[in-house]
Amino acid sequence: MALRTIIVNGDPILRKKSRQVDQVDDRIRAILNDMAETMYHHGNGAGLAACQVGILKRLVVIDMGDGLLKLVNPKVVETSGSHEVIEGCLSFPNVWGIVVRPEKVTIEALNENGEKITLSAEGDLAKCFCHEIDHLDGIVFTDKVIKYLDL
Ligand code: CO
Repeated sequence: MALRTIIVNGDPILRKKSRQVDQVDDRIRAILNDMAETMYHHGNGAGLAACQVGILKRLVVIDMGDGLLKLVNPKVVETSGSHEVIEGCLSFPNVWGIVVRPEKVTIEALNENGEKITLSAEGDLAKCFCHEIDHLDGIVFTDKVIKYLDL
């Protein structure tokens, strides 16, 4: 495994649309492992999208305290409710803001073995799914901030 450098705000790569992964192979699994290592290295990182380490593939890692999720080609398939949440991002050091997100989401993805999975989440995990999947389309949370916070 290897630590990757996190790309920060201002780099145009954060605005690019990431490509679908056709085959979940050892190369993809190695990238996911590097992403996880990089996320854990930055203690407060709850999630990381591949574009944040300069790789334009639809890959996401998330750990909101209930274990590591490695997601390939994740997409939101259902949402319900909406509420205000506080977000930050490893690519936006020391920036925090309030964003309106769905309360519940269901996503579909492939796991690291290439198997299709469906996950439903609410609260912080739902927020994290939305934030990371937005990254895959070049959308960053500051696009959606309704109020910045001094935290
Ligand atoms: Co982010």
